Amino acid sequence: MKILFLNGPNLNLLGQREPEVYGRTTLADIEAMVRDRAAKQKVEIEFRQSNLEGELVTWIQEAKGKFDAIVLNAAAYTHTSIALRDAISAVGISTIEIHLSNVHAREEFRHTSLIAPVCRGVIAGFGANSYVLGLEAAIIVKAV
Ligand code: DQA
Repeated sequence: MKILFLNGPNLNLLGQREPEVYGRTTLADIEAMVRDRAAKQKVEIEFRQSNLEGELVTWIQEAKGKFDAIVLNAAAYTHTSIALRDAISAVGISTIEIHLSNVHAREEFRHTSLIAPVCRGVIAGFGANSYVLGLEAAIIVKAV
C-alpha cells in the first residue's frame, strides 16, 4: 500500500509559525513521525509540501494509479479551492482531509471546507497526531 501525504501553503513554516495554534513540531518532525508509524505497518509513504495551488492539483492528478490513498492538509486552500476539490473528484482516490488545529473552534471562515464533501472523512484538532490518525484512517479505508 502506498499513501501520498500532501501539505499546502505555509505548512513549511510549522515550528515557528503561530506556535500557540500549531505547536512547535516542524513539518520534518511530522514526516519522521509518520514514516516511523508507516514502516511499522509496512506501508509506503510519500510526503510533499507546496505553497502553490496548481502544484498540489498536479500532484493529485499524477497520484492516479500510483497511490492507494491521499492524506491532505490543504491548509488555507481547504477554505477556498474549487480546483483542489475538482482534482480529488477527478482522480477518485480515497482522500482524508486533515488539520492540526480544530478549525471549527477557530474563525468562521475556517468552518467551511470546499474539499470535505469529496473526501472520505475529516480529522482536525489533534496537532501533529492528526497526521498519524490520517495514516490510520487511510489504511482502514483501503482495508474495508
Ligand atoms: C490548517 C488550518 C487552516 O485553516 C489553516 O489555513 C492552515 C492550517 C491546520 O492544519 O490546522 O494553514 O490546515
